Amino acid sequence: MAEKKNLPEFAVLPRHVGFIMDGNGRWAKNRGLPRSEGHKAGAKTFRKIGEYAADLGIECVTFYAFSTENWKRPEAEVNAIMTLFGDYLNEVIDRIRENEEKGIRLKFIGDRNGISPELLNLMDYTEKLTENKSKITLNIAINYGGRHEIASAVKEIAKKAVNGEIYPEEIDENLISDYLYTKGQPDPDLIIRPSGEFRTSNFLTWQGAYSELWFSDVLWPDFTEEHFNEALRAFEKRNRRFGGV
Ligand code: IPE
Ligand code: IPE
Ligand code: MG
Repeated sequence: MAEKKNLPEFAVLPRHVGFIMDGNGRWAKNRGLPRSEGHKAGAKTFRKIGEYAADLGIECVTFYAFSTENWKRPEAEVNAIMTLFGDYLNEVIDRIRENEEKGIRLKFIGDRNGISPELLNLMDYTEKLTENKSKITLNIAINYGGRHEIASAVKEIAKKAVNGEIYPEEIDENLISDYLYTKGQPDPDLIIRPSGEFRTSNFLTWQGAYSELWFSDVLWPDFTEEHFNEALRAFEKRNRRFGGV
């Protein structure tokens, strides 16, 4: 499969890019379609951009698929999103069986409570099936909330402290990072949010403390490799100081 041509080159590439996949609902509304059609179109964009990131040589990407706050949505919409998620996981399994996989190591970040047992099985299975893939690590944030993640980490650390396994003096930023879903991964260098909203909506709250942000009016289903290139060009020019001079 030698179909990828003319990949752009970048002087610096982010190691980890986060995507807030927003704007599916508005995309559908603009076309007089049900919101679920927007999610379907967004899921296609997700596949395309994930594979493109792998081709570019990016080490890690995180896609925000469903937040801890998204349960507020109508049940039918939640079900539509979960069904699309399951479809993707089944597709990954089929591709691996047919030896057509793309070197993607899948990880899921978020609270497993609330996810159906069927989906949890598929998640465990695909995580295991792809654990030796090394082209890119692709995190899917599902039932994910940054504050919830931090609260869960604090709970775990507190339990260990009570049991005498951790001394309060040992609790530092590195230790807290090790209790997050992203343990062992680099922090996101770049977070991309399309759809015209200027907020991060509880995405990678701890990890994104020093992320570069890139916003665009384009709705997620319309997001292309070109938009991604544009964000990466902007990232190339950013002067990251991390509080220094
Ligand atoms: C997708 O976009 C994000 C998810 C929560 C799945 P939205 O469904 O939020 O789309 P808009 O913001 O209503 O356009
Ligand atoms: C953020 O989008 C969550 C995901 C992309 C999964 P939302 O549409 O839920 O965010 P808000 O409500 O506009 O902040
Ligand atoms: Mg939205």
